[in-house]
Amino acid sequence: MLGLKLPTDPRWVNIVESNIDEILTDHAWCEQKAATNAITLIIQNPERTEMVDALLEIAKEELEHFGQVHELIKERGNILGREGVDDYVSKLYKFMSKGKSRHESFIDRLLFSAMIEARSCERFKVLSENLPNNALAKFYRDLMESEAGHYTIFIGFARKYAENIDVDKRWQAWLDYEAEIIVNYGTNNAIHG
Ligand SMILES: [Fe+2]
Ligand SMILES: [Fe+2]
Repeated sequence: MLGLKLPTDPRWVNIVESNIDEILTDHAWCEQKAATNAITLIIQNPERTEMVDALLEIAKEELEHFGQVHELIKERGNILGREGVDDYVSKLYKFMSKGKSRHESFIDRLLFSAMIEARSCERFKVLSENLPNNALAKFYRDLMESEAGHYTIFIGFARKYAENIDVDKRWQAWLDYEAEIIVNYGTNNAIHG
């Protein structure tokens, strides 16, 4: 369903298993950035009423996820660390159409969002299937379903507002590009590491 061309490197599971605390901090900030991204799309496209409503819901859900991860961090006796750079997302960001029309940039931002949701969803699936801690595995299973729903919403709005843009073709280009970069990941203790 997600269309990803490559699965996560299995070595990544071993890395996260022994770095849960680092992963949780990184994860919390991923959720904050997802909320911020949804709000940015609202700010840039206030006239898309249906999308504003849907993205407002997504922003609220992402902040709820942020809060849930923060609770886990506190339960483990830790304090939320500072935000780090998400190198993977930075690379995706570069692929977004820039210097193009407002409409093309808009559709590409929806696909950029869908791409991050798709890979995050896949990573959460890997975590849910491999983490030895049952409560944490269940937590990631629930999040996986939520992020899959977000992916569907972003892709759906890209198609709905496509006008003269061939969204399927552009999405394939996104998937190809993502496959090129994800091969270099899987060795770092971050959600997209
Ligand atoms: Fe989320
Ligand atoms: Fe999401």
